[in-house]
Parts: sequence; structure tokens; C-alpha cells
Amino acid sequence: MKLNSKDLAFLKSFKRDFDNDFSKVIAEDKRLLTYRYAREIALRVAEGGKRLRPILVYLAASLAGYNDIKKIRRLGFVIELIHIASLLHDDVMDDADMRRGKKTVNYQDGNSVAILSGDYLYSLAYRMALEFEKPIPEIISVAASHLAKGQMMETVLSGNFYLSFSDYIRIIYNKTAVMFECAMKIGSMLGGDANISKKLSMFGRYLGYGFQITDDILDYTGSVDLLGKPILSDLAEGKVTIPFVLSRNCSNSSEIKKMKQLWEEKTDFAAVKDWVIENDGIALAKSVCLNYIKKADNLLAGIKNCYEKELLTKIANQTVFRER
Ligand code: FPP
Ligand code: MG
Repeated sequence: MKLNSKDLAFLKSFKRDFDNDFSKVIAEDKRLLTYRYAREIALRVAEGGKRLRPILVYLAASLAGYNDIKKIRRLGFVIELIHIASLLHDDVMDDADMRRGKKTVNYQDGNSVAILSGDYLYSLAYRMALEFEKPIPEIISVAASHLAKGQMMETVLSGNFYLSFSDYIRIIYNKTAVMFECAMKIGSMLGGDANISKKLSMFGRYLGYGFQITDDILDYTGSVDLLGKPILSDLAEGKVTIPFVLSRNCSNSSEIKKMKQLWEEKTDFAAVKDWVIENDGIALAKSVCLNYIKKADNLLAGIKNCYEKELLTKIANQTVFRER
């Protein structure tokens, strides 16, 4: 099932309403962000995302029978603020110069400003999370800890040619899937049906795996224009991701030896990419991704049919075939 024009119109209007209020939340925050320079940076980085996590909060809340849109949107702000904060920090760690089609804050204003802007957005998110009843703030805080843990694992294991499939899965569970799970968990908790909440939380987790696997595939096969960020950056950063792991696992020892040397030299990324493609790394990674999306879809079986459920299924499927 593909997104049709009605779905695209719905997502566009969701994003427009979300973005309007989101920039107000940042612009009108008087407690910490009275310094104009900092406010401008925060507003700049808040622009341009897909708002996927807030949409998940909304769909999960709706499927759980909750419809106070103002409250749902505010919960979406919390998740999106944490997401943006983590990207600011990630770009410092990756020394990235482009994100969402624009120059990164670390590139334009330096690492210190990027780190502090991330710190500010994270603290704003947590302050807003406290508006919600227990255990929502704690769930969000634990998810953010996982985010940091996933990023730490990735950092420590970076440069390891022999990264295992299970370590890769552990990294993406922490750095991506947990936040998707959290978005759907807290959204559905607003409705108060524990059974639906359990299913939707797991849906979020599987979708998160699928999303990060696609992100890692697109780093090999995507277009800079569509993604708004450079490609083959994982290879440049010495990061081994799923297409690489799976092609390496299908290669014989003499080929692995050759590839290790090429990978370590960090000069001919195109040759490493060709090797990954020739050894089915992309196709195999896509099938792992599809498997997670199927698992996610199966969880919706017991939930009554409605527009929100249909849209969630389509978003999950779109995640595998997305180009941006
Ligand atoms: C992008 O991954 C980065 C993440 C999914 C998470 C980054 C997490 C942190 C920096 C920890 C932050 C912690 C708190 C508490 C805010 P990627 O580099 O694979 O994707 P990219 O290609 O979009 O950069
Ligand atoms: Mg990165």
C-alpha cells in the first residue's frame, strides 16, 4: 500500500500545523533562550525535518482513542526536540557539514555552539516532558539514555571492520529504534489502553529498525540532493553498517583480506560500494528491513480498521522504499 494524494495532503497539513507551533515554542521560550543568537540557531535547526516521530505520537494516540490534539502535538514537540538535539551532537561527532540540505551548525558556528544548542534543546524537551503525567517523563528520559548508549556503542566500535551483525543490531536498537518505540508508547499511553499500547510500542520498535537500516542503505545508494546530506559518509567515518556486514559475511577469506585493505585505506569508497553491491549487501539489508516492517505490520492485525491504522501501515511500507 502506497501513500496516496489524500495521505500526502494529510501529512503536509500535519507538518504545517506542527511547524507553526513548534517554532513558537522555541521563539517564545523566555527562561533560557533570551539570547537572540541562540534562539536563531535553535529556530534554524528546527526547520526542515520530516516530523516522522511526532506523526507516530499522533497516530498512536489516535489509535488508542485519544484526541486532544494540542496535548498530542506538545508531546510530539518533546520527541522532536530530543531528535534535533541528538542530530546537532551527532553532526559534531561525525564532523558533518550538511544536514537537511543546509550547512550544519558545527560547520557554520563551530562545535561549541552546536553542542550547546543541542544541550539547550534537550533541556527544553525535558522541561516540557514534565507537563505530562507519570510515567511519561521517565519513559522519555530512559529512551534518551538509550540514545546516548547507542551512540556510545557506535563510537567505541567505529573502525572495527569485523563488527558483528548482532552488535550492529544492538547499536541501531539503542540509537534509533528505542526513540520510535518511545514515540508510539507515550502517544498510545495518552489513550490508556495497555493492550493497544503494547502492540503500538513494538510496532514503533520494528519500524525504527527498518528506518535506520534504510538510512544505512541510502548512505550507499541514495542521492545527495534527495537526502540533503552526503552519501558514503559511513565509510568515510569508518562506520560499518548492515550492507557492509552482510556482504562481508558472504565473502571468502581472500576477498575479505582484499576488502579490509581497501576499506582501511579510505581512498576508493566507490570500489568498496561496488564490492558491497556485488556481494548482495544492499539486497540482503533490504530483506532484513522488510522483515522488520512485516513484523510491525503483523502487530496491527488485532487493531480495528480505520484511517489512522491504514496510514501507519503505509508509512511503515514507505520507510523501506523511501529516497529521502
Ligand atoms: C544519527 O545517526 C544519530 C542518531 C540516530 C542518534 C545520535 C545520538 C546522540 C548524539 C546522543 C544524544 C543524546 C541525547 C540525550 C540528546 P547517523 O549518524 O547514522 O545518521 P545521519 O546519517 O543522519 O547522520
Ligand atoms: Mg551522522
